[in-house]
Amino acid sequence: MSRQLATSADQVHSRCIPDGLDLSKLPGHLAVIMDGNGRWAKARGLPRVMGHRAGVEALKSTLRLCNDLGIRALTAYAFSTENWSRPGEEVNFLMTLFERVLQRELHALESEQVRIRFLGDLEDLPLRLQTLIADAMRRTADNRGIHFNVCTNYGGRRELVRASRRLAERVALGELEVSQIDENTLAAELYTVGELDPDLLIRTSGERRISNFLLWQLAYAEIHVTDVFWPDFGADALFSALLDYQSRCRRFGGLDGVTPDALGS
Ligand code: IPE
Ligand code: IPE
Ligand code: MG
Repeated sequence: MSRQLATSADQVHSRCIPDGLDLSKLPGHLAVIMDGNGRWAKARGLPRVMGHRAGVEALKSTLRLCNDLGIRALTAYAFSTENWSRPGEEVNFLMTLFERVLQRELHALESEQVRIRFLGDLEDLPLRLQTLIADAMRRTADNRGIHFNVCTNYGGRRELVRASRRLAERVALGELEVSQIDENTLAAELYTVGELDPDLLIRTSGERRISNFLLWQLAYAEIHVTDVFWPDFGADALFSALLDYQSRCRRFGGLDGVTPDALGS
């Protein structure tokens, strides 16, 4: 038995959702390390870059499905600060792919009420891509649907260094006391400012590492690793991850079912 999403007609909307999935207990924020594009292509005797092209389709369908399910934020790792070390042709292909996809998809994102933001050191990206990104962020800033964050030239360590520098600058300017630096003031200087921390991290292609992704924000995220290569990540793989998430007991350092009040003080 399965149910259908009661939303407007679209190929993604008509996907059946498994009975066991509790729609009231979905992660508010889903983070994804989209890995395995190159291996997906290699397994088919194709050049690696074809895997990146196929990966775009998986991202589009995941975004739509998350939006339909009412997940509030999707943060996807598209290009790390370490990915510049790949061959120049692959890096150039990716930058051009980002430009093309953004140009092609912006209208749909606008009409689907998606708010898109790019997180990372954007000033190192090609100028044409920077312009497209700025335009897409501006045009979708007031949209009320899912928050879609695309981590591009993103590195968790670099993000923390940047935040530290910004706090130091504010102290030097006399805007902030050293004693005012706490978890909130630091989090306010991260690219993810305004977003709740991810509840669930999915990594595809079987790799069991973080690879410099959201080092601060993933502090208490549940982690789901699947062997599926990113281009093959579809509705079934997403539902499996969500069911796995719902089977977890999140304790945040506390004890099962024990609230601070129950402990007494
Ligand atoms: C992830 O797929 C996409 C990017 C890092 C841009 P990969 O390109 O890392 O694919 P594999 O891991 O080599 O298969
Ligand atoms: C992580 O994948 C970065 C992105 C998905 C954009 P990588 O393929 O770069 O990570 P490693 O090198 O396997 O750790
Ligand atoms: Mg990889």
